[in-house]
Amino acid sequence: SILIVDFGSQVTQLIARRVREAGVYSEIAPFSHAAAAFERMQPKGIILSGGPASVLDEDGPRIPDEILDSGLPIMAICYGQQALMHQLGGEVQPGDSGEFGRAFIDVADGCVLFDGLWKSGETHQVWMSHGDKVTALAPGFRPVASSAGAPYAVIANDEKRIYAMQFHPEVVHTPDGAKLYKNFVRHVCGLPGDWTMAEFRKTKIEEIRAQVGSGKVICGLSGGVDSAVAAVLIHEAIGEQLTCVFVDHGLMRLGEAEQVVSLFRNHYNIPLVHKDVSALFLGGLAGVTDPEAKRKFIGKTFIDVFEAEAKQIGGAEFLAQGTLYPDVIESVSFTGGPSVTIKSHHNVGGLPERMNMSLVEPLRELFKDEVRELGRELGLPDVFVGRHPFPGPGLAIRIPGEVTRERCDILRKADAIYLEEIRNAGLYDAIWQAFAVLLPVKTVGVMGDGRTYDSVCALRAVTSTDGMTADIYPFDAAFLSRCATRIINEVKGINRVVYDYTSKPPGTIEWE
Ligand code: XMP
Repeated sequence: SILIVDFGSQVTQLIARRVREAGVYSEIAPFSHAAAAFERMQPKGIILSGGPASVLDEDGPRIPDEILDSGLPIMAICYGQQALMHQLGGEVQPGDSGEFGRAFIDVADGCVLFDGLWKSGETHQVWMSHGDKVTALAPGFRPVASSAGAPYAVIANDEKRIYAMQFHPEVVHTPDGAKLYKNFVRHVCGLPGDWTMAEFRKTKIEEIRAQVGSGKVICGLSGGVDSAVAAVLIHEAIGEQLTCVFVDHGLMRLGEAEQVVSLFRNHYNIPLVHKDVSALFLGGLAGVTDPEAKRKFIGKTFIDVFEAEAKQIGGAEFLAQGTLYPDVIESVSFTGGPSVTIKSHHNVGGLPERMNMSLVEPLRELFKDEVRELGRELGLPDVFVGRHPFPGPGLAIRIPGEVTRERCDILRKADAIYLEEIRNAGLYDAIWQAFAVLLPVKTVGVMGDGRTYDSVCALRAVTSTDGMTADIYPFDAAFLSRCATRIINEVKGINRVVYDYTSKPPGTIEWE
């Protein structure tokens, strides 16, 4: 395995991801706990991450001596490179300007990290983000590549198998970065690269058992992929010590609630409390039209219901959540200051403290596509695992204006037709998210010989990699007109269909 020592970079998790992609198990430890993790893991190689501090500061983080003296291969990134030079007898100085963003490096010499990739004399794109820079090398190191702002953009000590770089190979803006990590773990550390999601499953199961012991765990199911995968994994680890609670707010898509209940009860035989509280939610939403008021009411009511159920079950010390890595990074402000709330996201935040429970979050290191892979590994059906994301507040935020049971039913039908057409056209997996929105606008139409006066339905479909930015999906006109015709013919209450052409930004994906 590989130990990744975290000096606080925003993108350290991406290093772990690249190492996993190369088929090698890795764990991240904060620099302050790195010596202990090293002792426990007995890794075959070390990666030192970047970080926001300066090695020139008296109390800037340091690489533990155990690691420096271990004789193991080391790959050091950005701050890691600077710390290495600082501690081994090189020199680091504050840069006058720094380099931030896309940069180009000139390769001056061969290096095992470049195997099958880069050659001396070539120029390659990388991603830089640094103020300080290395200005003199420690004994035993040779320069391998340079950039305009970093004379020692890549350096090597072949005898000690230490390789260090100023740029960030883990981000996608360094197009060859993933291969640099692969060369490190395979060619330098000599690891076979046979680690898989099946191994992850085994490791996590051990970890869950160690954390929970003989305690009881409660897991809130949302109907979505993340909480379902977390629940199935935890159930595999601790069986009947887990109880799932499905708070059914009545704002799900067509057939979705039934699907979740049957999947858990029949397919997995996991104890499930299905709490149908649609009346409570719809009652509370009556007369509410402000988007934030809807979100806050739903979030709060969800927690109230969940808490009451958890009390009823009684005695659980642990709360399980399907938190993913992007939820973890998004919750940290990049500027260090408070960030603007665009929308109050629905989750069960606040609940663990209120109920004095500890969190079990086995998916914290994973990205959405990795969760899907783990879901398949656990035997969840493909249609379930591959499902588009669905927001916690459900259809309530796809019905601008007042939400009523009748309007939810109309929207469910239109949405199901739209998604069926998308699946039939083979486009479902090419789209990040597609859904219908029911507008609080009525327009005049003519059907047969009669006048109609009904609601407008808007269709939305976007491509995205993480939901943070999105592009509209460019359907052809024939496809859209087929959807419009079917929805108007088959759904009573809708007589006009429009397509939303707004990217994110400036729009958000959901309408509220
Ligand atoms: P927006 O509308 O902010 O959505 O562009 C980005 C992604 O987040 C989903 N979304 C939510 N997911 N709870 C969630 O779990 C929420 O309250 C919530 N609001 C939006 C949205 O569906 C899209 O995938």
